[in-house]
Amino acid sequence: MAELKGRCAVIGGGAMGRQIALNAAINNYDVTVCESFDAARESLAAWKEEYLAGRIAKGKMTEEQVADIKARFAITADLEEACKDADIVIEAIIENKEAKTDLLGKVSKIVRPDTVIATNSSFMVSSTFKDVVDHPERLANLHYFMPALVMKLVEVVKGDHTSDETIEKLMAFGRSVGKTPVLVQKECDGFIVNNVLKAIKEEAYRLVGEGICTVEDLDTAVELGLGHPMGPYKIDDMNGLDLRYNVLKRRYEETGVKSYGYDMIEKLYLEGKYGKKTKHGFYDYE
Ligand SMILES: NC(=O)c1ccc[n+]([C@@H]2O[C@H](COP(=O)([O-])OP(=O)(O)OC[C@H]3O[C@@H](n4cnc5c(N)ncnc54)[C@H](O)[C@@H]3O)[C@@H](O)[C@H]2O)c1
Repeated sequence: MAELKGRCAVIGGGAMGRQIALNAAINNYDVTVCESFDAARESLAAWKEEYLAGRIAKGKMTEEQVADIKARFAITADLEEACKDADIVIEAIIENKEAKTDLLGKVSKIVRPDTVIATNSSFMVSSTFKDVVDHPERLANLHYFMPALVMKLVEVVKGDHTSDETIEKLMAFGRSVGKTPVLVQKECDGFIVNNVLKAIKEEAYRLVGEGICTVEDLDTAVELGLGHPMGPYKIDDMNGLDLRYNVLKRRYEETGVKSYGYDMIEKLYLEGKYGKKTKHGFYDYE
């Protein structure tokens, strides 16, 4: 078996957490995923088997490599089991401030004082949680992109509470799992990519909302006119409209201003149409 680079706990085995975790295991970390929901643990285990079998079938991995990866990939519902020996903990649970605050407080009581604690939150800066984390100098954002097994970028976000050593460790961790890290030197909601995307999405929602074009034509225009691999509505469907709704709702609650697209996304959310994961969103995926 390849030499281990360290122990990594990923909390939350949903759309992002599972890919972050498997990416780390593929890159020789010993990984435990803590997922609290029974059905999600089962779906994660099945997804991992299917993904790895696919890599063998495509000739991208050998049977031996896959056996190694499986041997260093564990799934549990027990937070303590996942975190107690970890060198790095990556939180990837739902985008909800109270849930993340509660979880990170618990994590910090379990891990060693030098364990790096990172949140993969799409928009919340890590200082949101610094008061519940012992030794907050080891707390920062490590933001992956969907699909995390494929996308090369990670954003590392330094808070005032974050030590330089933690930033160095996170940049090195990012490189060690095959990513290119960029440093966001000051905390800012949404970091770099999501702020740029926010500007594009607001225009995309406005243009469709004002009846200027359809969702399909907007995506086609952005893909063929700007050379983006995916239009903004397809990105929303891939990332999850539940996540998008939570972000827009939080912004509305904080500012009292409804972003363009709020009503459109709220309607889909209330109908249970979360995008690709539920097979319905802006597009249908049956
Ligand atoms: N989806 C994206 O494209 C994307 C991209 C970058 C970052 N993120 C961020 O990643 C995080 C996760 O997003 P997602 O899309 O994977 O969400 P998801 O809903 O698919 O997965 C979240 C998982 O966390 C589990 N969970 C909830 N509370 C838990 C707890 N206390 N302990 C253990 N497991 C728990 C849920 O059962 C669920 O399986 C969010 O903060 C989101 O903002 C998402």
